[in-house]
Amino acid sequence: MLLRVPNALSPEVLAECRKLIADADWQDGKMTAGTQSGQVKNNRQLPEDSPAAVTARELILAELAQNALFISAVLPKRIFPPLFNRYDGDTNTFGNHVDNAVRTSRTTGEVVRTDVSVTVFLSDPEAYDGGELVVEDSFGVQRIKLPAGDMILYPSSSIHRVEPVTHGTRLASFFWVESMVRPDEQRRLLFDMDLAIVNLRQTEGDSPAVVKLTGCYHNLLRMWADT
Ligand code: NI
Repeated sequence: MLLRVPNALSPEVLAECRKLIADADWQDGKMTAGTQSGQVKNNRQLPEDSPAAVTARELILAELAQNALFISAVLPKRIFPPLFNRYDGDTNTFGNHVDNAVRTSRTTGEVVRTDVSVTVFLSDPEAYDGGELVVEDSFGVQRIKLPAGDMILYPSSSIHRVEPVTHGTRLASFFWVESMVRPDEQRRLLFDMDLAIVNLRQTEGDSPAVVKLTGCYHNLLRMWADT
């Protein structure tokens, strides 16, 4: 499932993140690339333990913890500490790749299986040319360039790339989530059911049917969740 989460960051958090990372210590993005992806990766990143990244990451994680859409869609078990990347000048692109299946955080030592990949756009789309995130999967080819503060979720199993930024600067946060529910199609089913129940509850309150459907949701989650 590919899902846009609008306004994942409040304007205040977005502004603070931008300020924190603007003049930070940007380094070669190959630091977190695998053997294949390292050959096509040409961008910059903040080191995982960079003070700016550590502070900005906490702001983003606090926002995510309150985001019902994100939680319902991803059902997070572990979240890799959000990282930050930058595309501009001579370091402006990341060719086709699949994200590494398992990541170990240098700062926490935690091992995260990457089920869902996440990009949070930090630059206004008008601030740069190019830089679309292109995701190829069974749903076809999607070209994604979102307003600053919006987030896109996509299966980590998909081939994706970032098109060259030919003008301006593209800043983003990116990270991976290990879900309690590993198969994408099961997460999708739970997500659709959750949204439908929320809609039903708004129109008919906690009717017997709504209570029963809510029970079905939780019993499916109980059957599929790995905590
Ligand atoms: Ni990637």
